[in-house]
Amino acid sequence: MTELAELESQLVGAVEAAHDEATLDTVRVSALGKKGAISERMKTLGAMSPDERKQAGQALNALKDKVAAAIASRSASLKEAGLEARLATEFVDVTLPVRPEMQGSVHPVSQVWEEITQIFGDMGFSVAEGPHIETDWYNFGALNIPDDHPARQEHDTFYFNPKEDGSRMVLRTHTSPVQIRTMQESETPIRIIAPGRTYRCDSDQTHTPMFHQVEGLVLDDKTHLGHLKWCLEEFCKAFFEVDAVKMRFRASHFPFTEPSMEVDINCSWEKGQVKVGVGDSWLEILGSGMVHPNVIRAGGLDPEKVQGFAFGMGIDRLAMLKYGIPDLRAFFEADLRWLRHYGFRSLNVPTLAGGLS
Ligand code: PHE
Repeated sequence: MTELAELESQLVGAVEAAHDEATLDTVRVSALGKKGAISERMKTLGAMSPDERKQAGQALNALKDKVAAAIASRSASLKEAGLEARLATEFVDVTLPVRPEMQGSVHPVSQVWEEITQIFGDMGFSVAEGPHIETDWYNFGALNIPDDHPARQEHDTFYFNPKEDGSRMVLRTHTSPVQIRTMQESETPIRIIAPGRTYRCDSDQTHTPMFHQVEGLVLDDKTHLGHLKWCLEEFCKAFFEVDAVKMRFRASHFPFTEPSMEVDINCSWEKGQVKVGVGDSWLEILGSGMVHPNVIRAGGLDPEKVQGFAFGMGIDRLAMLKYGIPDLRAFFEADLRWLRHYGFRSLNVPTLAGGLS
């Protein structure tokens, strides 16, 4: 056997014997690496006569190709064997019943969030997002709430420590800053909802420091108050799953809308349980209005050409109303008994076609 034939059988043997990728790679380096057996022999070609070099060069190249091919094929079969082994050990029998001790459930806030998204999605709204940590400008200034405006106090804002330039970031007190971000990022017509977390320094039976809101924004060249009323009525009927709702639109004031309205929904209280659509009580569920020209301008659009409405409602509040949950603080206590009682089955995803709740 020539020396090269011997080397070949030795290297190919090592390749075949490699039972994992790491060993195979060591063999590859020992043969084809910079200081590998074949590479070292290549270096001796320079000192040979042209004839010798031609012969030896061809033989070495042929050896190199053979070894490389053996490595590639070994690597492929190792990969395949690895996959087979994983498929065999990671086998999941999806027909097995759900384990009875697994009692995870969907939180009512997640459920209602999804329900709201479904309803507005059906009306052609898409979902927008914004950061929870906002600049003062996005949370207040751009929304027509100047420095000395009393609304700033009403918002019970969580402020961060001031930066070197004196400016302070805030935990957003409402989802309205997403209005500005959406206007800056998109062209009209705009039709978005922005569900998300919001923060105010406040805590009692109906307030928690972190709560959820959903913002709505519609902007084009002709949307008016009538559209706002229709949209909110359709939403309430779909959300509370009733054929008719009585709603009361009360004149109100928000710096970022003009005119502004707060919306109450007709309901009854019986034995501490609230029922929507009947009775003669009223419950406030949202704030709304026509977007103020200053807000449109802050969003980089022209209030002479663009108009529309915005609204903001509390998701937690809607969940309490729809599912008769009396205390808001319990939402965030992660009490398993509460979650088992008020939670939803994880596979019951709300859809308009299949039913919301
Ligand atoms: N941002 C207001 C709040 O948090 C709600 C609102 C949104 C009112 C949009 C009008 C228009 O109370």
